[in-house]
Amino acid sequence: MSDIIVTGCAGFIGSHLCESLLKEGYQVIGIDNFDSYYDRRFKERNLAILRDRKQFEFLEADIRDFDYLRRKIRNTEVVIHLAARPGVRSSMKDPKSYADANILGTISVLELALKLNANQFIFGSSSSVYGLDEVPFREDSPADRPLSVYGGTKRASEIILHAYSYNYGLPVTILRFFTVYGPRVRPDMAIYKFAKGIFLGEEITVYGEGKLKRDYTYISDIVDGIIKALRRKFSYEIFNLGSGRPIEIIRLIRLLERYIGREARIRFEEKPREDMPETYADISKAKKLLGYEPKVSIEEGVRKFVKWFLNNIEENLRL
Ligand SMILES: NC(=O)c1ccc[n+]([C@@H]2O[C@H](COP(=O)([O-])OP(=O)(O)OC[C@H]3O[C@@H](n4cnc5c(N)ncnc54)[C@H](O)[C@@H]3O)[C@@H](O)[C@H]2O)c1
Repeated sequence: MSDIIVTGCAGFIGSHLCESLLKEGYQVIGIDNFDSYYDRRFKERNLAILRDRKQFEFLEADIRDFDYLRRKIRNTEVVIHLAARPGVRSSMKDPKSYADANILGTISVLELALKLNANQFIFGSSSSVYGLDEVPFREDSPADRPLSVYGGTKRASEIILHAYSYNYGLPVTILRFFTVYGPRVRPDMAIYKFAKGIFLGEEITVYGEGKLKRDYTYISDIVDGIIKALRRKFSYEIFNLGSGRPIEIIRLIRLLERYIGREARIRFEEKPREDMPETYADISKAKKLLGYEPKVSIEEGVRKFVKWFLNNIEENLRL
């Protein structure tokens, strides 16, 4: 089977995606630089699942190091670009590093894709591009008022991708992910911080009285959506990959309490300005054109997440 490049392969979504691609029989070249946004040990743990697989080659490299990557890789059919600095709040504190990694990084990966004669480019974008748009978010909403620099870097990348698709005929599929969760979720994400706090009996910080809404999407549904996108080529299309069923954060906390079997100690704080009050995906386009069909309910997803969290509790607390 053909070669696929996955950038950000040591991350949460990237490592799950690579696992599934290998199961499907693809040869995968994974690229990651263990960016310092969160502890490298989490990423080493993700990568351990992939490292000795015969069809997997790992390159520890920065996506902006075009010359090195050009030397190391001969050709590829598809590039799935997931490497980025994530994190809405932190992007307001260090905006330049976000622009650098996410915008210049994307251009570098695009240049590489052209040199390697790739015939498909899939980009991991985000619901944060929608900012102040009306819910439910549709792919044809303006998405021109993101609330964070992070959201801005994702939208800028989407627009630059259009120019590459237009000028070079590179088929581009943009997937806007909505709050992804599951085993090995990023440690900076609310669900992970809440689970840890609830387990340890420590106070957790909850914004906006727990009434902010998020369209939580289980990792296996996201991976399924990416693989479905891989099987269809478009000259340039954008798709929401969400569950289409947003919940209030307080409901997430109640589910975590139920499955962990302990009560949360909550401190409410005002919503940071850059946090979106609500994310809600209209997924009808992905259903129609990709055959995307999210399957995991929030109850089942949180139960599975907690099972993983508790089964690996010593490691999760040590890291
Ligand atoms: N997790 C979510 O809920 C979510 C939602 C929307 C969009 N996304 C996007 O999906 C992608 C994957 O997210 P994730 O949650 O798995 O994050 P993650 O941080 O776990 O994974 C990203 C990986 O990219 C790597 N990386 C960062 N900069 C790099 C660089 N310059 N060179 C090489 N590697 C680099 C990091 O080391 C990391 O392993 C990101 O683009 C993110 O913005 C995630």
